[in-house]
Amino acid sequence: MKLAIIGAGHVGGTLGARWARGGHEVVYGVRHPDGERTRTVLAASGPQARAASPAEAAASSEVVVIAIPYGALGDLLPALGDLTGKVVLDAVNNPAVAPGAPAIAAEIAGMLPGARVVKAFNTMGWNVMADPRFGGERADSYICGDDAAAKDLVAALARELGFVVVDAGPLASAGLLEGLALLWIDLALRQGFGRDIAFRLLRR
Ligand SMILES: NC(=O)c1ccc[n+]([C@@H]2O[C@H](COP(=O)([O-])OP(=O)(O)OC[C@H]3O[C@@H](n4cnc5c(N)ncnc54)[C@H](OP(=O)(O)O)[C@@H]3O)[C@@H](O)[C@H]2O)c1
Repeated sequence: MKLAIIGAGHVGGTLGARWARGGHEVVYGVRHPDGERTRTVLAASGPQARAASPAEAAASSEVVVIAIPYGALGDLLPALGDLTGKVVLDAVNNPAVAPGAPAIAAEIAGMLPGARVVKAFNTMGWNVMADPRFGGERADSYICGDDAAAKDLVAALARELGFVVVDAGPLASAGLLEGLALLWIDLALRQGFGRDIAFRLLRR
């Protein structure tokens, strides 16, 4: 599958490298395709990956992963062009916001009319994206969105990386996942648990 990864930082670089190593065609959409950070990510990603401008990356891919800071969305999303029909995987959090604020995913969907937005990978740290195994357990990947086929596709991409996928419902539930991310961040960075933590849903 052709995947555009907008942002080649901790999240974009980790997910992109794993999917490229798994056989997907990955193009990183970045400000500096020849920059040192991009070159390091490309080296980790192998021959299935390349770098381009964000607009070029998005235009050439079926799935567009948004992995940039919340504050950069306003500038970057309009520059991506028309994403009608494409699956947009929104991994964005805003650690500075209070729980219950308007959902980032709704803002993204509003800025990308016609895109099939799925919220995913925001409820864990990038280190868990790199390796979701915890002993004999595997971390959950919570996803939500309004387009069933888009959600199936993102679920398959998450399972390929070793996650247990939990369908958390429509895109209107994205605020819940963004709140869960705030809990992960607080536990990991402020309450002393460290980054090697992940959520699991128990059922009976
Ligand atoms: N870190 C985590 O564990 C984690 C977990 C879940 C979700 N998230 C969310 O995922 C997103 C990315 O986080 P990250 O940790 O990967 O951040 P990061 O390591 O700082 O990387 C950010 C990426 O976004 C790019 N970028 C920044 N400002 C930009 C702009 N104005 N226009 C275009 N590109 C821009 C950066 O490019 P340059 O290299 O050119 O600056 C870099 O490639 C954030 O929304 C974050 O909340 C993070």
